[in-house]
Amino acid sequence: MLCWKKKANLFTIFTLTCTLMLVFTCFYWSQQLIHPASLKSILTCRGQFAQDTITPLSDNKTFVITAYFDNRENITRVLSIVQRLEVKHLYCWFCCSLNANVSITVAKIKIGCHRKFPYSVADVLCVEPMNCNPTYVSIHWSPEGDIDQLPTFNIRNRVPKTFSTEFTVCISTMFGNYNNVLQFIQALEMYKLLGAQKVMIYKTNCSQLMEKVLQYYITEGTVEVLLWPINEYLRISPNWHYVNDGKDIGYYAQLATLNDCIYRNMYRSKFVILIDLDEIILPQKHQSWKEMMDELQKQHPDVGMFLFQRFLFPANTLYTMDAFNLSFWTSIPGVNILQYTYRQAQVQAPGKLIVDPRKVIHTSVHKIIKGLGRTQTVSLEMAFIQHCRSVPHSKLQKANLVRDRVLWRYNSSLIKNVNQVIQNVIGN
Ligand SMILES: *[C@@H]1O[C@H](CO)[C@@H](O)[C@H](O)[C@H]1NC(C)=O
Ligand SMILES: *[C@@H]1O[C@H](CO)[C@@H](O)[C@H](O)[C@H]1NC(C)=O
Ligand SMILES: *[C@@H]1O[C@H](CO)[C@@H](O)[C@H](O)[C@H]1NC(C)=O
Ligand SMILES: *[C@@H]1O[C@H](CO)[C@@H](O)[C@H](O)[C@H]1NC(C)=O
Ligand SMILES: *[C@@H]1O[C@H](CO)[C@@H](O)[C@H](O)[C@H]1NC(C)=O
Ligand SMILES: *[C@@H]1O[C@H](CO)[C@@H](O)[C@H](O)[C@H]1NC(C)=O
Repeated sequence: MLCWKKKANLFTIFTLTCTLMLVFTCFYWSQQLIHPASLKSILTCRGQFAQDTITPLSDNKTFVITAYFDNRENITRVLSIVQRLEVKHLYCWFCCSLNANVSITVAKIKIGCHRKFPYSVADVLCVEPMNCNPTYVSIHWSPEGDIDQLPTFNIRNRVPKTFSTEFTVCISTMFGNYNNVLQFIQALEMYKLLGAQKVMIYKTNCSQLMEKVLQYYITEGTVEVLLWPINEYLRISPNWHYVNDGKDIGYYAQLATLNDCIYRNMYRSKFVILIDLDEIILPQKHQSWKEMMDELQKQHPDVGMFLFQRFLFPANTLYTMDAFNLSFWTSIPGVNILQYTYRQAQVQAPGKLIVDPRKVIHTSVHKIIKGLGRTQTVSLEMAFIQHCRSVPHSKLQKANLVRDRVLWRYNSSLIKNVNQVIQNVIGN
């Protein structure tokens, strides 16, 4: 996978040699500020404050998500999406809180996983100027220009705080006019039963009924929705791999939202869980995620990233059965996960993650691309992920399925809680 690392070829070796020879000069250059004095007049902090989750820049090839201070590397990390072949130079325009001047530094652009799509998630890394103590930054393709015209980003995470939440679930994207309401409510109630206090959802679009359900959970305080209108800016592909169909970026730019969720929760949440709405991490020895993580951390005190293995529970009518009287639910669109009690015998590679966000520098969906320390794979005796979705019948072989009623352990509280939500949202 081409993530962060470059392929080792002759050109790279040549470049490396040159870099070594020039390292002193280059280092000096990259740390140099481009003095505002070289501009027409001394710039002072103004600009327009960015409000949205996605902010297009004037080159139409760079989209800024959020700026974060990263105290592990002592830099400002601006999470972005860029046209990776065309965006080669970017500048960080810092607004210094000490003297209210603008200081401009050269950005380092770190391209993330792209699977050959023209656009990619990128970390735009900005070394902060000395004697500046910035609270705001703008990103621009030129070291010259009019600060008034540039969108300005608040640099988040400037002050580390002690976290207020134990478990936050990051749902990277909700798209395709999402209407799997019943599975959504069941998943949310399971997350809450297991110990989630917060569920962050990056929403592209969903149905009217789903909007009502989201509003219910926002009011309750469980859900935080971040609007993710990526389809207004780029031609998004529902696929992971580029198939030369004119699409700009893979899978709704999910990697940008996952990384944003990690940084947004850096000082808010002890753990961040990177899963989809059709996945539930089910502890096998413990009642809650907290008890499970306490034991995992005791076993692996140096580890901050844990990979959980997944079993596919096919949501295909062929294998359903009714065990509970859920006639109340039949009017709700979506999958009833209590009905699907067969799973594939083999785990589905790859798994999903629970991480200490302070140990993560850059993440992908199934693995940490850059982090502090190693990732521990969690044994099936400890926990596994129930992944419930429908699959093509051609891919199913009954011989490979085994009965597993793991979710039924939660039947009474789950059914009671789901009923309550349905009653509140739909009324009767
Ligand atoms: C970016 O797009 C806008 C609107 O489509 C256009 O007016 C502008 O000229 C474009 N800028 C560049 C640098 O191509
Ligand atoms: C920064 O602003 C101060 C006044 O606020 C001014 O005296 C100083 O010359 C400015 N520095 C630079 C490098 O422009
Ligand atoms: C962080 O970077 C700033 C600006 O380059 C520098 O002034 C400061 O000393 C650095 N702090 C640490 C802890 O390295
Ligand atoms: C909702 O998102 C999908 C992409 O998942 C898109 O194809 C569709 O046009 C969007 N619908 C609306 C009403 O924006
Ligand atoms: C199932 O529950 C509904 C009320 O939720 C009730 O009206 C119905 O009689 C029950 N059916 C059975 C078979 O118990
Ligand atoms: C439902 O859960 C209860 C415990 O809350 C358990 O005793 C019961 O066996 C479960 N029902 C089924 C059908 O598994």
